[in-house]
Amino acid sequence: MTTTRGLRERDRPITMLTAYDALTARIVEAAGIDVILVGDSMGTEVLGYDDTLAVTREEMQNRTAAVVRGTEDALVVADMPFLSVGVDDSETIRNAGRMLKEAGADAVKLESGPHTVEITDRLTQLGIPVMAHLGLTPQHVNQLGGYSRQGTTTEAAEEILSLARAHEEAGAFALVLEHVPANVAGQVTEALNIPTIGIGGGPDCDGQVLVLTDVMGLSEDQPPFAEQFGDVEAAMTDAVDAYRSAVENGEFPSAEHSHVEESVDDLTE
Ligand code: KIV
Ligand code: NA
Repeated sequence: MTTTRGLRERDRPITMLTAYDALTARIVEAAGIDVILVGDSMGTEVLGYDDTLAVTREEMQNRTAAVVRGTEDALVVADMPFLSVGVDDSETIRNAGRMLKEAGADAVKLESGPHTVEITDRLTQLGIPVMAHLGLTPQHVNQLGGYSRQGTTTEAAEEILSLARAHEEAGAFALVLEHVPANVAGQVTEALNIPTIGIGGGPDCDGQVLVLTDVMGLSEDQPPFAEQFGDVEAAMTDAVDAYRSAVENGEFPSAEHSHVEESVDDLTE
């Protein structure tokens, strides 16, 4: 069983991947992934939104519960969606707490900044493990104006390092570093005791995370740092196409899929 404490004891890179329902969570766990992230990328990847801002706490909680039902012992981390954290202290705690108490997650992930240091400390003290997330934080797209690489100047990189240290100090058990230069991610990794998990952060992080739909070949467009490891869209299209044509051609259902009950009389006599 993977635990938030056990993560840092790995002697190989930590593997993390998103999943958004019981079906995909079962597959991801069976493939041996250490950590399943119910990412708010769910908004764009499976719910059809243009960005992650529209994703609600209820949607994240329902999907997290489904992922938990689909897994046995993978570590399940629930992403806290836009404005579910930070508006108000008691609401923040309640929203994060429900991911564990009601949905059954093992931890939450917060897109982090100066405002989440105290929140991370409070949640950790209450028994809610927090994964921090620095670098590109997509919930800030309206300030960033896009999804570009972060930490590209010494000053910006220093800010990431100092926030990383502050979140470690506040009790975060791991840190996602998204879309930052490899040498920045490497130096942050070196400076911290908690594991770093990179996405577009180069090879020197303690682990890697990607979005499931990018990995499977099911996303409409993937970020430059992602890699497609399979063509599930082609496999799904083939299966649906084969089904459609079998029905249209009268090949399905065949005799083996059908049952004639001899004891039922002709109903029209
Ligand atoms: O929502 C998500 O999938 C994420 C990962 C990209 C880290 O936050
Ligand atoms: Na996210």
